[in-house]
Amino acid sequence: MPASATDVLLCGDPVAKADAARAFRRAVVGGEVVAVGVEVPERPARPSRPELVPPHKVAKRGLGSAEGRAALLHAIAHIELNAIDLAADMIARFADAPEIADARDAFIGDWSSVCDDEARHFLMIEARLGELGYAYGDFPAHDGLWEAALSTRHDIAARLAIAPLVLEARGLDVTPGMIRKLDGVGDTASADVLRVIYAEEVAHVRCGIDWFHHVADSRGKDRESYFDELVRAHFRGRVKPPFNVDARDRASFPRQYYMQLAS
Ligand SMILES: [Fe+2]
Ligand SMILES: [Fe+2]
Repeated sequence: MPASATDVLLCGDPVAKADAARAFRRAVVGGEVVAVGVEVPERPARPSRPELVPPHKVAKRGLGSAEGRAALLHAIAHIELNAIDLAADMIARFADAPEIADARDAFIGDWSSVCDDEARHFLMIEARLGELGYAYGDFPAHDGLWEAALSTRHDIAARLAIAPLVLEARGLDVTPGMIRKLDGVGDTASADVLRVIYAEEVAHVRCGIDWFHHVADSRGKDRESYFDELVRAHFRGRVKPPFNVDARDRASFPRQYYMQLAS
């Protein structure tokens, strides 16, 4: 059977989903045929826990206790699980978009690599949660990431502008502070996991900007003003500083794109 990103989306068990993501990546690297035209579910399959609640109901706890650190790691595990699905959905939904017909294999190669990274990130965080005596599902979580996916499911350019370039880029801004706090309370093991994730997320943002430019160019759009237009149309929150300009520079994310949105 040909490999399909939809298989990743249809896995409900989180560890099975991560394993499916890794298997999909191996199939792509091995040159296996990737199925197209497979129906893409509107929502990926997920486990019955965690309970999904509005963002303000996800309690923030101090990092002084193991429970507080586990709650932070749980929130990150939830982000990574969503990120697996977002990368799989990018391929399943958009690999046949006419704008990337000239570069379809490269598109699948790039996003399957992201999907594989996110799967490793999820498994690393889940393992660390286990060491602290917790598991994914033990705390409530919110559905903001998938709501952003739903609101951009009609258009590859909107998806690229919002998912990697607003939401993942935000991860670059906030992760160093989390690492500092975890180091500060002596939880080096958790901080080390976040250091790996932080280093690898730069490439995801770069992947986002590269493919955004590809689509903008093929539509004959001005890159910068198109980005601005799409974020204003499809992102409900605020693009807000402080920005991690250094990490965003390493991702080749032009400063004026986000500075203009924040002003
Ligand atoms: Fe990640
Ligand atoms: Fe990522």
